[in-house]
Amino acid sequence: MRIDIITIFPRMVDVPLSESLIGRGRQSGLFEINIHDLRDFTSDKHKVVDDIPYGGGPGMVMKPEPIVAAVNAIDPDNKAVRIVTSAGGQLLNQEIVSDLAAGERILIVCGHYKGVDQRAIEIAKLREVSIGDYVLTGGEYAAVVIADAVLRLLPGTMRDFGSAAEDSHFSGLLGPIEYTRPEIFENRRVPEILISGHHEKIRCWRLGNALFRTRERRPDLFAKRDLSQDEIKILGEYVS
Ligand code: ADE
Repeated sequence: MRIDIITIFPRMVDVPLSESLIGRGRQSGLFEINIHDLRDFTSDKHKVVDDIPYGGGPGMVMKPEPIVAAVNAIDPDNKAVRIVTSAGGQLLNQEIVSDLAAGERILIVCGHYKGVDQRAIEIAKLREVSIGDYVLTGGEYAAVVIADAVLRLLPGTMRDFGSAAEDSHFSGLLGPIEYTRPEIFENRRVPEILISGHHEKIRCWRLGNALFRTRERRPDLFAKRDLSQDEIKILGEYVS
């Protein structure tokens, strides 16, 4: 997997993607992350990347020329899934992340200001992606979120790959609550079943908890999921 990120603030992307599991995977050559400064693709003395919006109003718009030049230079054969981060884009979810992880290359343009000139989006074939219904100062953190969510799914990134399969959202459910030692903390005891050593009962309890939490917290996700007979039974018997 190779991810190219085009930004006007390279360090904002490089620093978080050099730490923890992503930093390790990057260093060991498990995947490649290339960060490009959009200003390197300008052709004027002042390396201008934005301009005032046609039609007036406050804020600036990202100019089309540097973006198209950067995308053409970095992905000349159109091999990458091309994304531009935007609060107005399609909402990222685990399904999109999994689709991206199944591919070979991703190119992310970090959007800024009011947005990107529409012609750049069309010519460079950029798919607009939002990471949530809130507005950030720029698309750099959104690019980091997309890269992190995708790269952690690649075999080898996570120390314990099995854990990705148990994640929240992996199977359309939130993950169950978890406990670690000590067994009693400030008079609160770990649920008995988790220390019983009974694997099948533990599996059912965790699944029941995941189903219960998803129904409570994310009725939208719960409604989308077809429950198996087994799951209906487990949810019915689940005691929180
Ligand atoms: N840029 C500003 N806000 C954003 C968001 N929520 N997602 C992606 N890019 C953004």
